[in-house]
Amino acid sequence: MKHLLDIKDLSVAELDELIAVANDIIADPRKYSEACHGKKLATLFFEPSTRTRLSFEAAMYELGGNVLSVAGANTSSAAKGESIADTARVVSCYADIMAMRHPKEGAPLVAAMNSSIPVINAGDGGHNHPTQTLADLLTISREKGRFDHLTVGLCGDLKFGRTVHSLIHALSRYEGVKFVLISPEELKVPSYVKAEALKTRNVPYEQTTDLSEALPSLDILYMTRVQRERFFNEEDYLRLKDSYILTPEKLKAAKADLCVMHPLPRVNEISVAVDSDPRACYFKQVLYGKYMRMALILKLLEVKV
Ligand code: NCD
Repeated sequence: MKHLLDIKDLSVAELDELIAVANDIIADPRKYSEACHGKKLATLFFEPSTRTRLSFEAAMYELGGNVLSVAGANTSSAAKGESIADTARVVSCYADIMAMRHPKEGAPLVAAMNSSIPVINAGDGGHNHPTQTLADLLTISREKGRFDHLTVGLCGDLKFGRTVHSLIHALSRYEGVKFVLISPEELKVPSYVKAEALKTRNVPYEQTTDLSEALPSLDILYMTRVQRERFFNEEDYLRLKDSYILTPEKLKAAKADLCVMHPLPRVNEISVAVDSDPRACYFKQVLYGKYMRMALILKLLEVKV
């Protein structure tokens, strides 16, 4: 049985296959509308979420399946002290596949070790968020037509931003990709991510604190929110939260075919005036996330259409 805990669980060939299925769903959604008839997805979200949970649930409904949902640690048996292992065993009796978000790094791995159904990591603490990366990859594929030879700027909270960690791993596997890591000193990409993804593969990267200086060279700009919930004190958060704000003024210096991405939710990082710029891709990214989750559910449930 296969789970998706880390984007590294998928080979480049498997990513290509998921993207091909997602593109086919976009072209002909009716072909897939009963593909998961009689199957149930459990969504276990022990951390706030709008997009990811609804995206999984919409994905399962659009495949003709059903959804069982736990939203919030306070409304589930976790509040009574149940372990992740026991929760996983119990949910395995009800559902065919589960998606879990948890504030603790590694929680979905523990669930997978104790589950008899596929487990999808829907975000674990400041660690990984592989299905956001699937959304990001479909966006890049449709907007840029390639993954190779891109200069990718990642900006904001690169320390706690789990979407960034997974995206670096995924893109570092392609030829000619270069990263520009734009963050305050305190919020740099953790060294374990750099060691595993960038240094072992000799992927070129620069680290800077200056967004305006980096902007003209970028093909992709991936903005992120400062992850308030993972800060140890409010003062640091308040000091760092508005480090970067993308505005139409700043975008004047960028390439005409730049692709501006953001996993959302946005707080202040992108001025709403940027939304009408044709380079703003973050709402398309939301839609693409649903199609990639549909493709992933089909793959993990081994449903052939
Ligand atoms: C992201 C997350 O949960 O890590 N959101 C999402 O799933 N789209 C990004 C964030 O919360 O900042």
